[in-house]
Amino acid sequence: MNILVTGGAGFIGSNLLCYLHDRYSEAEFLNIDKLSYASDLSYLNSIKTSNRYRFKKLDIVDRDALRDIIRGFEPDGVFHLAAESHVDNSISGPEPFIQSNVVGTFNLLEECRRFWQQEDGNWNPHRFLHVSTDEVYGELGDEGAFSEKTPYAPNSPYSASKAGSDFIVRSYHHTYGMNVVTTNCSNNFGPHQHDEKLIPTVIRTALNGKEIPVYGKGENVRDWLYVKDHCEALDLVFQQGKKGDTYVIGGNNEWKNIDLVKKICDILNEEVGEGPEGDYKNLITFVMDRPGHDFRYAIDASKIKEELGWSATRSFEDHLRETVRWYMEQYQ
Ligand SMILES: NC(=O)c1ccc[n+]([C@@H]2O[C@H](COP(=O)([O-])OP(=O)(O)OC[C@H]3O[C@@H](n4cnc5c(N)ncnc54)[C@H](O)[C@@H]3O)[C@@H](O)[C@H]2O)c1
Repeated sequence: MNILVTGGAGFIGSNLLCYLHDRYSEAEFLNIDKLSYASDLSYLNSIKTSNRYRFKKLDIVDRDALRDIIRGFEPDGVFHLAAESHVDNSISGPEPFIQSNVVGTFNLLEECRRFWQQEDGNWNPHRFLHVSTDEVYGELGDEGAFSEKTPYAPNSPYSASKAGSDFIVRSYHHTYGMNVVTTNCSNNFGPHQHDEKLIPTVIRTALNGKEIPVYGKGENVRDWLYVKDHCEALDLVFQQGKKGDTYVIGGNNEWKNIDLVKKICDILNEEVGEGPEGDYKNLITFVMDRPGHDFRYAIDASKIKEELGWSATRSFEDHLRETVRWYMEQYQ
């Protein structure tokens, strides 16, 4: 089986490629990634010499180059993760988000459709997994959780671009019968995440003795999922998810930002212990809130649990500590 992964040099894509490569010993993998500031090919060191893994630097906005790659590699399945992913960047400069997330997803779908669909309208065996975010659903108040039935209400240029891509994917199933499946996942944490994201920022600034910036009063709530749990869920949805369906994925693990930041500081106090007056929490500094900052995200993951038997099983505490140690090695 030939598996194409887009965005495989980023945070989730690199974790996913290593996971899939180890799990499917017969499969061949091609990673296409434009190598943006958020990428790091060293995350793939454990598989880079494998004769079942290849990398091609490619921007999925470049449709002609993408066509050549698809025709050359002949994928049976696609895991589509390539995207601009940082909300703050989408506020300061939204255009790359529309290009990569909307136009890029269209290019990939259309080139896959042309490759997989036969002249008589029938399809060669294939599967297209589109990896999206819970942010497409907007924000929640104190109660409730997003499910597959929640109406879309994206609030940032990032989430709007992901919502746009979700709709194009949906239309390729409805109109052409393409074998697509979409996942909408909550916040991931774990190794390989870019410096700009919350957890790496907290660890990096704390270790440098700098102020730890927290938006507003830190009251915003996110549901955190360990990236390797997410990879297992993606694999399962790719293998067994119902054609044309969507699955929300979450950790059932809600944290106010401020509580999570304090938790990380406590781990650093135990692991390093060099915070001001013995406590890294003294570095926490509230900064002006992000414009339009969604208040709360939470996921009702009962569909994926009931249909596919998946739920987040790993211990949050253990994996947060392991994650902190991974970044300590990067930053110290
Ligand atoms: N990180 C999260 O918490 C989270 C949660 C839910 C969903 N997602 C989704 O998962 C996917 C991966 O997210 P991530 O956190 O790993 O992001 P990331 O920013 O770490 O990695 C994205 C990768 O995509 C590549 N890329 C971007 N535009 C491209 C283009 N035009 N052509 C080719 N490659 C391109 C980048 O170079 C980068 O390597 C995204 O689609 C994101 O929307 C992320």
